[in-house]
Amino acid sequence: MKPLQLPGIEAYALDKTRPEPAQLTALEARTWASMKNPQMITGRLEGRLLKLLVQICRPQLVLELGTFTGYSALSMAEGLPDGGRIITCDVDPVARDVAQAAFDESPFGTRIELRMGPALETLRALDETIDFAFVDADKLNYQAYYEEILTRTRPGSVILFDNMLWSGRVLDPADDEDRALDALNTTIAADDRVENVLLTVRDGVQLVVVK
Ligand SMILES: C[S@@+](CC[C@H](N)C(=O)[O-])C[C@H]1O[C@@H](n2cnc3c(N)ncnc32)[C@H](O)[C@@H]1O
Repeated sequence: MKPLQLPGIEAYALDKTRPEPAQLTALEARTWASMKNPQMITGRLEGRLLKLLVQICRPQLVLELGTFTGYSALSMAEGLPDGGRIITCDVDPVARDVAQAAFDESPFGTRIELRMGPALETLRALDETIDFAFVDADKLNYQAYYEEILTRTRPGSVILFDNMLWSGRVLDPADDEDRALDALNTTIAADDRVENVLLTVRDGVQLVVVK
């Protein structure tokens, strides 16, 4: 089967996907109006996917690397079971302020703890089992995040990596980020410790389940 690259297909997928809560629509609009790189936001299609995956997996602890303005954390928080919580981290104080304000306004905000600091430090300081991880921070460290997360998982834990198609640049890697993401896709696809599928949703979502 040929890959699906039809004009309008993303809009069609959005049209046939459930709406998001009004607060997330407002947060996305605020992000586009106020942030320097608003296109980094995951948005509705991937946000609804995250919410549903969390709802299916029922994790007690979700770890997110790369909070930005909080859209993906709030999407996942919506799907959590009772007692479930999210630890999310970022290094950008401007994004932190937008995210924390959104968490404070949300009925799901008390489920989210925002930690400031480099993702690798946040991860290494964590001595709890990660049931579900969403990695969406700096691409050059993805491989290190993968190994650190794996040591804190259990069989059945889920790890998602965003941007794993990198706007197609993984097909013909030209710089360090392209090569890092291509190398991680190759590592994961051959790694006996996990099962995986690389989803062509948005910019590519690597869905990994720990054996
Ligand atoms: C693509 S955005 C995350 C988008 C977010 N998940 C959402 O749905 O809106 C990437 C974020 O990673 C953060 N970041 C970059 N390097 C980081 C690092 N070393 N540690 C933690 N966060 C980092 C950036 O500040 C940025 O906010």
